[in-house]
Amino acid sequence: MSKKLFIKTWGCQMNVYDSARMADVLAPLGYRTADEPDGADMVILNTCHIREKAAEKVFSELGRLRTLKDRKADQGERMILAVAGCVAQAEGEEIVARAPFVDIVFGPQTYHTLPEMVARAHRAAGAVLNTDFPAESKFDHLPDDASQGVTAFLAVQEGCDKFCTFCVVPYTRGAEFSRPAAQVIEEAKRLVANGTREINLLGQNVNAFHGEAPDGSTWGLARLIRELAEIDGLKRIRYTTSHPRDLDDELIRVHAEVPQLMPYLHLPVQAGSDRILAAMNRKHTADHYRALVDKLRTARPDLALSGDFIVGFPGERDADFAETLRLVNDVRYAQAYSFKYSPRPGTPAAVDDQQVPEEVKAERLAALQQLLDSHQQAFNQGFVGRTVPVLFDRVGKRPGQLLGRSPYMQSVYVEGGERLMGSIADVRIEAAHVNSLGGTIVTGVYESSSARPAIPSMEARA
Ligand code: 5AD
Ligand code: SF4
Repeated sequence: MSKKLFIKTWGCQMNVYDSARMADVLAPLGYRTADEPDGADMVILNTCHIREKAAEKVFSELGRLRTLKDRKADQGERMILAVAGCVAQAEGEEIVARAPFVDIVFGPQTYHTLPEMVARAHRAAGAVLNTDFPAESKFDHLPDDASQGVTAFLAVQEGCDKFCTFCVVPYTRGAEFSRPAAQVIEEAKRLVANGTREINLLGQNVNAFHGEAPDGSTWGLARLIRELAEIDGLKRIRYTTSHPRDLDDELIRVHAEVPQLMPYLHLPVQAGSDRILAAMNRKHTADHYRALVDKLRTARPDLALSGDFIVGFPGERDADFAETLRLVNDVRYAQAYSFKYSPRPGTPAAVDDQQVPEEVKAERLAALQQLLDSHQQAFNQGFVGRTVPVLFDRVGKRPGQLLGRSPYMQSVYVEGGERLMGSIADVRIEAAHVNSLGGTIVTGVYESSSARPAIPSMEARA
């Protein structure tokens, strides 16, 4: 009999990916995913530890779920309640102590043992706590990937050894680890056979990828992308997230030479002041970053850049923040994420005694976001009247509306039939908004994987 599984996911794409894999692992046990937790046989909270008050959000969600669990128990049935992800990894013991009605607590590296944990939870009275970093990789124990749709994420790398002083990832996700290249290529082929047209290679620090190659040598991300580009039917390749220090010349060359690699790159810089970058342990300067961007744009003049920023890092003065604004003005991001610094327990910056007052952080964030938004709006505005190839991957909210992505990751909406899903068509852009473009399909659908979009360079748009 089929059982109802509800997974709530917070945080990054890696968590979204993990949640999908958890559902895959539990499918053979009869679990089918549901849209709400009411009446579910199992609920998993897949948590994120990056944002402020992450643990508190989990505890308040658990409070709500307890009611549903009790209601189910009144009917003589059991709801297994599990907490997964980075909060589970970092605060597993506390979850078990504060929320004893939770059945399973497990970290991001152990979900391949979910069937066993579920069986143990059924037998045990207390919680099953599994936050080890196991010797065997979960990636070796996953069922064949179910289809993910037109665009798919494929985890190729996990964890991080960079130890930026604000970040919990090296503690919650563990050491940097790359999957064997053959395993990645197999999974990519399966996805494409199931209808995927675009693959986004995923990793906390994806350009640190150094997977074992079939011949026993080691492949970097650049080589992996070249090999994936050989797969028939795979039209688009992207990768996220990258650290500037791991962006080597070979990867930059791939941006120039592999047409399936889309001209969009998420390359977080975090701050524009060398003093703050040093305190963050980023191990690069603002000018190193500028030089990288120049190289990338020489290789691929239309490259759209995206970034992450933290304002109000401990010790950040007005002059440091002005350097961040200067860098943003130099680079002109097509899209970006920006955050107020928030101390994460266990990270070095959290105990720094030069914490920046909340009002200052709020002011700086508002100023930065205003600038980033103006660049994003200008970037999108520059597309009005132009034609871009759009891969349609989802239906819109309104009937007859179809959504897709431009090569530059912009969401594009058109009027079109669902039969276009999964195909690429040229769209003439008529409207530009901060977060999307609107247009009309102007050509018949084409599927050419090598067609290079005729888009003018960034300079022309600026
Ligand atoms: N405070 C604020 N932002 C953070 N990030 C990571 N840790 C913190 C923190 N403690 C941001 C970084 C990172 C993105 C995923 O989240 O910008 O690139
Ligand atoms: Fe965190 Fe990214 Fe720095 Fe690694 S490189 S510590 S994941 S911010």
